[in-house]
Amino acid sequence: MNLESLLHDRLAPALAAVAGAPVDPAVRVSPHADFQSGVALALARSLGRPPREIAAEVAAAADLSGVATAVVSGPGFLNLHVADELITGALDALRHDERLGIAPVTAPSRIVIDYSGPNVAKEMHVGHLRSTIIGDALARLLSWQGHDVRRVNHLGDWGTPFGMLIEHLTEAGDGDHSLGDLTGFYQAARARFDADEDFRTRSRLRVVALQNGDGPTRDLWRRLVAQSEKAFLAVYDTLGVTLGPDDFAGESSYQDDLAGVVDDLAARGLLSESDGALCAFPAGFTGRDGAPLPLIVRKADGGFGYAATDLAALRHRVGTIGATELLYVVGMPQQTHFRMVFAVARAAGWLPDDVTAEHIGFGAILSTSGCMIRTRSGTSVRLADLLDAAVDRATVPAIGIAAVKYADLCSDRRGDYVFDLDRMLASVGNTGPYLQYAYARIRSIFRKADGGPGPVRLTDPAERELALALLGLDPAIATAAALREPHRLTTYLHDLAAAFSVFYERCPVLRADEPTRASRLALADLTARTLQIGMFLLGIEALDEI
Ligand code: ARG
Repeated sequence: MNLESLLHDRLAPALAAVAGAPVDPAVRVSPHADFQSGVALALARSLGRPPREIAAEVAAAADLSGVATAVVSGPGFLNLHVADELITGALDALRHDERLGIAPVTAPSRIVIDYSGPNVAKEMHVGHLRSTIIGDALARLLSWQGHDVRRVNHLGDWGTPFGMLIEHLTEAGDGDHSLGDLTGFYQAARARFDADEDFRTRSRLRVVALQNGDGPTRDLWRRLVAQSEKAFLAVYDTLGVTLGPDDFAGESSYQDDLAGVVDDLAARGLLSESDGALCAFPAGFTGRDGAPLPLIVRKADGGFGYAATDLAALRHRVGTIGATELLYVVGMPQQTHFRMVFAVARAAGWLPDDVTAEHIGFGAILSTSGCMIRTRSGTSVRLADLLDAAVDRATVPAIGIAAVKYADLCSDRRGDYVFDLDRMLASVGNTGPYLQYAYARIRSIFRKADGGPGPVRLTDPAERELALALLGLDPAIATAAALREPHRLTTYLHDLAAAFSVFYERCPVLRADEPTRASRLALADLTARTLQIGMFLLGIEALDEI
């Protein structure tokens, strides 16, 4: 049940009649009433009438019977007070519905979500943490809404660094052993590459051998990839992320498509040569000097890079997978890259008008001193180390993981956030552990309760507040999914847990007499189930006991 849209639907016809044209009633949750509309104030000027008069006319004309009462307040707000019978009726329906009243979408889309995307032979770092956590929450949300979600892990498993890495692997002796520490392995290879001219030459030959499909070189490369995939899957497992082995779609998998991408673009006249490289210059992109910005499709040495691979991947996702929505959960610094890829793909006809492509950008993780998180030597902090630190500090590992994930999801993803374990792990406030404790507390009530929930009755304002909050799951999920903003759901769940806590303080549950007791148990049970679904959609574990 979505009260906002119900009120919207009841007000809209009356409003259209008063305004002489369709107008959005803009119904919002309000601290002054259950819901409020400020639409009369917005219309006053164009209608040339006092806002209070408009509001009163709408209130009189709207068919709100059985739904709400409308009262004009202040300069012309319409305050809406929802009917108690509507609330109790809606909650009683939820009690018997596993999906808590949220019907699957009637027209599901096929949605490809590109997230995580770590690079082979490198540890995942905090930059990949956000993509993994946000992407997984979106994948869970959209699947739960009923969409056909395809998770894609665009693994960085191809390109010139692999010459150096493979060459180092052949010369470092026991390969599997040295691969146990991927960061150390990468750094050692890099150090040799920088110091040793001969090694550099051998590395370049290796790139050529790799590209030409040389057997032993491919075998070594496959070992590198397999070892890295194992390490990434271990991180996903720790995090409780739904990415699996079948979701890897490495950059290497598009190798055979790259020549075709160039041909297609050339045939449409979208490529020009610039310093030996083949580039597309999508309209509207200029550099700092005002000159058109190139998207390099084929490098001067004939090699293909990141952009070419992304073009091939996009073409595959639309043309072969049949996606109608493409989401790329990647940090803000890559925003221009994606905008250019989308623009070129549109021009090439690979992205028809009815297919959407969105870059779901996010900000950086800062240390408590306000810097980007780095180790003292200046290299990026290993993700595994951050997670270990959180788990070490938490009473239970699942709480540490929840703290890290929630902290990543609970504010607007476009902003930076501070990795502050004290704050993230706090059992009060807008944190993952707060939700976990709220959930476990309700479960403990039921361990003590004999007799069960019954029909909901509203006898105390705190019950009514909680009841209204319980009806907010549907709009919270709809908004979080539509805007690709998981923090809409975290905010909702936090407010719900807070409403429960006020209710629980004011309203005795087990000590109450029937039928109040059964009604309060129903409210408690619905709160637990709502928290459980919400946490599941965020990828945060709900513990029955802490
Ligand atoms: N491997 C890339 C990086 O570490 C992220 C890949 C994102 N996905 C994509 N389709 N480009 O920056």
